[in-house]
Amino acid sequence: MTWQSGLRADGKTFLVTGANAGIGYFAAEQLAASGATVVLGCRDSGKAELAMRVIRERVPDARLRRIPLDLSDLSTLPATVDALAIDSLHAVVLNAGILLSDPARRVSPQGHELMFATNHLGHFALVAHLAPILSAAPAGRVITVGSFAARSERLDLADLQSEHDYRPKRTYGRSKLAQMLFGFELDRRLRAHGSTTASIIVHPGGALDSLSPARPPLFSRTTAQRLRGLPANIVLHGKHSGAQSIVRAVLDPEITSGQLWGPRVFGLRGQPHQESPHPHMTDPGTATQLWSASSALTGVDPFDRITNTP
Ligand SMILES: NC(=O)c1ccc[n+]([C@@H]2O[C@H](COP(=O)([O-])OP(=O)(O)OC[C@H]3O[C@@H](n4cnc5c(N)ncnc54)[C@H](OP(=O)(O)O)[C@@H]3O)[C@@H](O)[C@H]2O)c1
Repeated sequence: MTWQSGLRADGKTFLVTGANAGIGYFAAEQLAASGATVVLGCRDSGKAELAMRVIRERVPDARLRRIPLDLSDLSTLPATVDALAIDSLHAVVLNAGILLSDPARRVSPQGHELMFATNHLGHFALVAHLAPILSAAPAGRVITVGSFAARSERLDLADLQSEHDYRPKRTYGRSKLAQMLFGFELDRRLRAHGSTTASIIVHPGGALDSLSPARPPLFSRTTAQRLRGLPANIVLHGKHSGAQSIVRAVLDPEITSGQLWGPRVFGLRGQPHQESPHPHMTDPGTATQLWSASSALTGVDPFDRITNTP
């Protein structure tokens, strides 16, 4: 079967984290056109409402909901999943993310370094809490949004939270690598168990707001901003385009667990295609140690919950 962007998903429910802005917004907009119910997981209810309004202007029959989600605070996640109030979830897109530039290290309410906490630990724990309803779907999908920034980073398992040596860009890249290691390890564990749930890893390439179409009043660009962004279009693309790997990973029945998808042109721009992951992203030894540490830090284990659900 060839990929059709018009594929329908009526009756299905997808959760997108960080769906009120950027790539997550465009993923939610594009998924809404499939007929599925799209749940926007956002930390700001006003921004989530606005995003829903803007999506409905473009997809009038969109089925949308929103739930409060703050990935940086692990204590809030059980209530977030309760707020979903559904029996089965067909896909969760682990999209929300932060890239801090301040030289000062910041921590989450639980005392974890904030980028590692939000990007990796929050999503790790969210999947654990979602496990019963993901397992209840006939072929649930966990879509992890990684980054090309993970290519040049390596985890320091002795300093996962950059307590001894904090450099914002590196800590961000490592948090994205941790997410990708998680996605590939989840796939290995699911397949070893014969689970029908799939873990798919994607990355958006280099996706800029300045190359993205406006969605007023959620976000817009001045003509000057648009013109300034144009040269970057040679190597990078907009967030609407970066969202396509996500949308395809959610909808395309040909994509299977353990695959990595990203933009075709140097992994930076263009249509989604399947990529070969770099070996350090799939290393089982590192992934196992990261998994144990993440489970200890969050107090939950996604795999236990997926496999122990009746
Ligand atoms: N753009 C790129 O070129 C690029 C490249 C590689 C990977 N990525 C990855 O793609 C994903 C989306 O990036 P983007 O460029 O679209 O980012 P963005 O425009 O900054 O949007 C990030 C989204 O995450 C949400 N978020 C941040 N902290 C959160 C928290 N604690 N709880 C819940 N939601 C939270 C934000 O909500 P607020 O609006 O409330 O802040 C926003 O909705 C990220 O995972 C990023 O690492 C992006």
